[in-house]
Amino acid sequence: MMTVGIDKIAFYTPNYVLDLVELAKDRNDEPDKYTIGIGQDKQTVVPNFEDVVTMGANAASQIVTHENRDTIDTIIFATESGIDNSKSGAIYIQKLLNLSEFVRTIEIKQACYAGTFGLMQARDYVTLHPDRSVLVIASDIARYGLSTPGEVTQGAGAVAMLVSSSPKILAFNNDSVYMSRDVADFWRPIDREEAIVDGHLSTTIYKEMFLSLWHRYKEQTNNELNSFAGFAFHLPYTKMGKKALDQIMDEANPKQQIKLADNLRASQIFSRDVGNLYTGSVYLSLLSLLSHAKNLKSGDKIAIFSYGSGAEAELYSVTLQDEFLTGIPAEKTRQLLSKRKKVSVSEYEHIFSSQRFNSHEDKKTDASENATTVQFLGWQNGERIYQ
Ligand code: CAA
Repeated sequence: MMTVGIDKIAFYTPNYVLDLVELAKDRNDEPDKYTIGIGQDKQTVVPNFEDVVTMGANAASQIVTHENRDTIDTIIFATESGIDNSKSGAIYIQKLLNLSEFVRTIEIKQACYAGTFGLMQARDYVTLHPDRSVLVIASDIARYGLSTPGEVTQGAGAVAMLVSSSPKILAFNNDSVYMSRDVADFWRPIDREEAIVDGHLSTTIYKEMFLSLWHRYKEQTNNELNSFAGFAFHLPYTKMGKKALDQIMDEANPKQQIKLADNLRASQIFSRDVGNLYTGSVYLSLLSLLSHAKNLKSGDKIAIFSYGSGAEAELYSVTLQDEFLTGIPAEKTRQLLSKRKKVSVSEYEHIFSSQRFNSHEDKKTDASENATTVQFLGWQNGERIYQ
């Protein structure tokens, strides 16, 4: 049978970072609550010259090459932090990456789940057209507001993935189970800059949906917990993955429990230092797992759990391919994170507030002229200008 899956993957996050121990002290919280109770050490801070388009373009440009650019038929842009109610972010990406005009471009939304739907559409398309590929970009900014309970779980970034046949990294196993239920746990009215969230309810629904899909998955596929080398979870904060997995851990034998716990830690490393990136978060967790786990080999099965508030979830598995290790940008991602410029709490608050722009005013952002990455320069006649 033909294999279809992720051939290339890359991550991008803006160049500023806040230490959450400093934030905890400033907010009169115990630092251990943030670093142990919630499981976050740092978070990316988004300057006003970055948005979901710049982050998506800066992730995608790392995987679109001279060899594969003409195979790309479709760009699927998944986000819940879109910049326009009509025009798709994918069209901006097409232009910024100089991709062919003979390409489909579309933006999709369902909270943190949309990137997974994008991958599933890509899988179906490539299955029908094995010599073509689809570029899937999951890009978001998690923004809750200064001094809110969600503040410690903010973050931002984009994951870009190229889906093709005979993929280098992993193959989809076509065993998805999924569900949707109308829940008021988290939503973002279009007239607001910050999300409305019931954080404890969202944690409960996440856990419930994981458990429900896990039972359905086992029934439909005859897999068991011992079949998997590891899990990649959507990580709104890293403790969330542990809360979900702990519910089923006693189904594994003792050796397997140690392996799953080690690999859960491996999957949390990047998110601990970035924060939530909504729809890209589960794929940052996958990238972290493949970058840090010591015991993975080709043929191993990884389970992926995607959750988007509102709520929709999907559980599926992938199989690691022969050359997966050489396809993983582990060092590049580590360098991206370690080179970020540290900001103080007051600098972060200033940057956070300077995100506010409106299209009625021609105004420049703080973009620098000789940047090597794509930046949002500002508004001109109601249009967003990028370079
Ligand atoms: N040392 C160690 N641990 C401590 C501690 C200390 N000094 N003080 C508190 N803790 C622990 C608590 O015991 C608790 O642990 P458990 O969850 O295991 O019980 C943890 O720290 C958090 O404490 P609280 O529940 O009191 O924290 P909170 O009320 O401030 O809320 C939050 C935490 C719900 C995650 C909040 O940050 C939030 O609302 N975040 C945004 C929403 C969110 O991320 N929801 C997750 C699922 S939704 C989703 O997945 C979609 C999405 O991306 C939004």
